[in-house]
Amino acid sequence: MTIPKDPGFTQRLEGWQVRIEAELAARLPAADTHPTRLHEALRYSVLNGGKRIRPALVYATAQALGLTESHVDGAACAIEFIHAYSLVHDDLPAMDNDDLRRGRPTCHKAFDEATAILVGDSLQVLAFQVLASGHGLPGDPAIRLKLVDVLAECSGTAGMAGGQAIDLAAQGQSLTAAAVEEMHARKTGALIRASVLMPAYCVPNLSSDIEQALDRYSRDIGLAFQIQDDLLDVEGDSKLLGKATGADQANHKPTYPSAIGVEPARQRMHELHATALEALDVLGPAAASLASLSDWLVLRRH
Ligand code: IPE
Ligand code: IPE
Ligand code: MG
Ligand code: MG
Ligand code: MG
Repeated sequence: MTIPKDPGFTQRLEGWQVRIEAELAARLPAADTHPTRLHEALRYSVLNGGKRIRPALVYATAQALGLTESHVDGAACAIEFIHAYSLVHDDLPAMDNDDLRRGRPTCHKAFDEATAILVGDSLQVLAFQVLASGHGLPGDPAIRLKLVDVLAECSGTAGMAGGQAIDLAAQGQSLTAAAVEEMHARKTGALIRASVLMPAYCVPNLSSDIEQALDRYSRDIGLAFQIQDDLLDVEGDSKLLGKATGADQANHKPTYPSAIGVEPARQRMHELHATALEALDVLGPAAASLASLSDWLVLRRH
């Protein structure tokens, strides 16, 4: 069986993007409260035109499992706060040293490096506070604890932060495809996985075959997503992307295309897309938005 795609996906995605924008804005400290420079930088770094892929995954997974958006708004915000923090730190001179993000100067360029470090610190703890006590999540403390646990696992050394460490240590080296895959699964795949697992954990007594199917789907699209990011760095348009292209080669980063070549990397991305779609079979037509979302992730130009 192949899951049918969602014919109204474009409008649904736009609806989710509008919703998450308002949810994020409401949970950030006001820019005119003390210390204003930090609060301005926080809002600058979050409310700045990201694609909101991870919140869309939270909402699409919720939809596939029969939950409404209001059951998972907190998870959608928490993952986007962690993601925004990871980008602010990723762009710092000590990491990728990038000047452009989402079509605007990076946080440390618009403000300063110390403020950018503090923006990351603040967003990270805000994410966990939202999961612990924010609105837009089930009240059950056992569910909240599970969400904190999975987000910590996926953000920490086993996930994003560990992947970033591998990325930095590998600069100037050539890695095997398997080693690049492990780096990508951690630095990017882990937060994509958390975006799918958090709404799944909001469902009491979720069957293990559905949890496994969502886990497979999220791992495959997470890796496919970073391969496309690497491909867009080689052949994308900086204006559309809102960030520099050619940066990976300039920084001597091992990437999927540098490890195995552009066309084999593209092929691997399409294979992962296909296995992600297959994994959704067990969910049936309710997973139509998740299927459409994975198409969008691999076909995107920005
Ligand atoms: C960029 O992520 C960084 C990676 C993990 C590859 P996105 O492409 O989701 O960036 P935004 O949020 O839309 O700016
Ligand atoms: C970013 O990978 C991964 C994280 C931010 C965790 P990249 O360094 O490739 O992301 P871009 O290309 O700067 O967005
Ligand atoms: Mg990086
Ligand atoms: Mg980078
Ligand atoms: Mg990149």
